[in-house]
Amino acid sequence: MKRKPTVFGNWKLHNTLKDSEELARAIIDGAAPYADRCHVGFAPVFTALCTVAEHTRKSTTCTLLAQNGYPKPNGAFTGEVSFSLIKDVGCTGVLVGHSERRHLFGESDELVGEKVESALQTGLTVVLCLGETLDEREAGHTWEVVDRQLTSAMFHVPPALRDKVIIAYEPVWAIGTGKTATPLQAQEVHALIRKRIEENWLAESAQSTVILYGGSVNAKNAQELFSQPDIDGALVGGASLKPESFLEIIKAAAESAATK
Ligand code: 13P
Repeated sequence: MKRKPTVFGNWKLHNTLKDSEELARAIIDGAAPYADRCHVGFAPVFTALCTVAEHTRKSTTCTLLAQNGYPKPNGAFTGEVSFSLIKDVGCTGVLVGHSERRHLFGESDELVGEKVESALQTGLTVVLCLGETLDEREAGHTWEVVDRQLTSAMFHVPPALRDKVIIAYEPVWAIGTGKTATPLQAQEVHALIRKRIEENWLAESAQSTVILYGGSVNAKNAQELFSQPDIDGALVGGASLKPESFLEIIKAAAESAATK
């Protein structure tokens, strides 16, 4: 099965409401020529979701994602936002288990697993983020870490919801550092992830699951990364904040479809 190239922007803690709206509009317009060949989306800050949703709702080009969510529908959870509210505001997907959530906010594999389950049950697409730290890579534990994060979060997902899971492999040492994993380093981990999906689910699921790479992706390195057989697109941080660079990455992803 052919997987559609996918490029998502994670805007992290950036942009006022006005900036978010302008950026969303520029991307929606600029991505239109690639819409049939590339799935494009972006995740603004929570406070901008409602306004940006007015634009994504009218667009056939881009989908709206949230950066995080909480796995309880409602209740005494001050400061949290449930997946059902995220859906209610107009998001179709959500990032779960981003390394900044795991490392800065102490999210455990167990909590990430609960979030995956709750978000999927709500009807959202989940972008499950995983990846090793520099220490873990240097100690030769890359696959052990990625496999643990993958297994604990994903393999209890029932068959009917499996096509709603997208994986984003984001080595922590490559995020925001300007140090991209080489295309071969990324491909090696992506291929292992796909193999593990095949072992735990089915060959068919393994072939249809979109696996994104994230970590210092930019307009210059995107094409080479996307030329790898198991890299289906990117989750982009810094370079998604400027329409020009994000649109170049989208173009590279759309064009990669013809070569695979
Ligand atoms: P950078 O592209 O800024 O390295 O961020 C990657 C990332 O964390 C996307 O979720």
